[in-house]
Amino acid sequence: MRAIVAGSQGLRIGEVAEPTPLPGEAVVRVAAISLNRGEVKRALSSTADWCPGWDAAGTVEVPAQDGSGPPAGTRVVGLLPSGAWAERVAIRTDALAEVPPGVSLQQAATLPVAGLTALHAIYRGGSLLGRRVLVTGATGGVGLLACQLARLSGADVVGLVRGHAEVVAATGAEPATDLAARAPYDLIVESVGGQVLGAALAALGPDGVCVTFGTSESSAATFDVGAFFRVGGPRLHGLVLTHELRVESARVGLARLLRLIERGQLKTSVEVIAPWTRVDEVARDLLDRRFTGKAVLEVA
Ligand SMILES: NC(=O)c1ccc[n+]([C@@H]2O[C@H](COP(=O)([O-])OP(=O)(O)OC[C@H]3O[C@@H](n4cnc5c(N)ncnc54)[C@H](OP(=O)(O)O)[C@@H]3O)[C@@H](O)[C@H]2O)c1
Repeated sequence: MRAIVAGSQGLRIGEVAEPTPLPGEAVVRVAAISLNRGEVKRALSSTADWCPGWDAAGTVEVPAQDGSGPPAGTRVVGLLPSGAWAERVAIRTDALAEVPPGVSLQQAATLPVAGLTALHAIYRGGSLLGRRVLVTGATGGVGLLACQLARLSGADVVGLVRGHAEVVAATGAEPATDLAARAPYDLIVESVGGQVLGAALAALGPDGVCVTFGTSESSAATFDVGAFFRVGGPRLHGLVLTHELRVESARVGLARLLRLIERGQLKTSVEVIAPWTRVDEVARDLLDRRFTGKAVLEVA
C-alpha cells in the first residue's frame, strides 16, 4: 500500500507494508489526514526514511478483533503515534471515535492533535465561566480551536495575533497584538514560547495558570521565578498531549469535539484542502505560515 514517507528528499508517497493490527486495533481505510506543526517540522528535517502522521479519518475496513471498536463501514477519526498518513492504518480503539452524520471526514481529520490539545489546555483552567483567557498563537491550528472552546466555556477570550486578526475575531475572541494591554488573565493557553511565554507569565492574575505546550517562536524564555513563590502567584503547566490522554482517552475527547461540531457550536478552520500528492509543498507552506488554521490532505 502507499503511505507518505519522510526522508532526505522531503515528503513523498512511497510503498510500505500493510498494517498488522493488534486485537484492540481497527484497520481504517484513510480518506483524509491533517498536518501538524510538530510532526511536519520533524518530518522535513529527517534524513532516514520513516512514516510520519498523527491525524487520520476514514472508514473502518476491519473491526478490532476484541470487539472493542465500531463495525466495518463506520466513519471514524483517530490519533496515531506515527504513520497515520497512509492508505490504511491500524488504530487503537481507545484513540478512535465515530464521526457523526453531518460532519465531514475532512473536518474530523483536523481534530486529533489540534482539537485534543486545545481541549486539554482548556480543561486545565477549570471553570471558565466569566473568566479571562488569553490564547497565544491564536491563528494556528490549536489556537483557533482553543479560542472557540474557551468562549463556549463562558470566558472572555483574547487571542494574541501578529496578523490575520479577522480570523480570530470570527471565533468570538478579541484579537490583540499586545497581550499585556488586556491583562490580567485567569488562564493562558500558550504555544509561542520565547518572549511571549515570559510576558504571559507576568500577565496572569492571582492564582492564574499558564498552560505551555509549544515553542513556535523559541524554547528559551526569561521570566521572574520569584513570582512563583508569592501567595496567589502564577502557575505553569507543561502540557504534553500523550500524557493528558492517559487520564482521558482520545476516544472520549474526540467524541466530545465531534458533538460540538455536529451541533454547530464549534467550527473547524480548514484553510487548505489538497490531494496528498502535494504533501511536501503543503507541509512547507505550513511551516512558513503561508496559511492560518489547518491543512487537510485527501488520500486517493
Ligand atoms: N505539547 C504538545 O503535546 C503539542 C500538541 C500540539 C501542538 N504543539 C505545539 O504547539 C504549537 C502550535 O501548534 P499548531 O499546530 O497550532 O501550529 P500552527 O498551526 O503552525 O500555528 C502556529 C501559531 O503560532 C504563531 N507563530 C508562529 N511563529 C511565531 C513567532 N515566531 N512569533 C509569534 N507567533 C508565532 C502563528 O501565528 P501566524 O499565523 O501569525 O504565523 C500561529 O498562530 C506548535 O509549536 C506545536 O508543535 C504541542
